[in-house]
Amino acid sequence: MKNFDITIPVIETTFEELTPQLQKLVAMARKSTYRSYAPYSKFHVGAAIELSNGEIICGANQENAAYPSSLCAERTAAYYAHATYPEATFKTIAIAARGTDGKELANPISPCGACRQALLEYETLAKHNVPVVLAGEKAIYIFHSVKSLLPYCFSEF
Ligand code: THU
Repeated sequence: MKNFDITIPVIETTFEELTPQLQKLVAMARKSTYRSYAPYSKFHVGAAIELSNGEIICGANQENAAYPSSLCAERTAAYYAHATYPEATFKTIAIAARGTDGKELANPISPCGACRQALLEYETLAKHNVPVVLAGEKAIYIFHSVKSLLPYCFSEF
């Protein structure tokens, strides 16, 4: 028998310390939270995806009266991005959220399991790491890849 440990590298930083390009992506994710349709949870999530063709595609969570029919911000953005520019690959993803008080959360949210699996598909297509920037009002966390957010993802050992 063997034991394995997984370590997940993450950078904790601030908006001011980001490169101008990442600041732009985070600003667009933050702006997208205002396009969320969340009358049920009142939790507003925005995602911005920078593509290899220079486009930035945004998405926000879309809820539905039949709750399970809702879709998270990350998948809204990812599916729209790939349906619009199927030839382009994902470069970087930024995610931001506002809570029920309407204010951006101090600490970032981390994408749900289903979104991680969906985003991983596009990282695999890109054939390189796609960094994920999780933006809070105070703290920002950068994961160097989608895969690092989904250890033991669906695959063969
Ligand atoms: N939500 C997202 O959009 N992204 C996530 O990563 C987690 C949760 C949405 C789903 C739902 O509309 C609301 O946030 C509350 O869970």
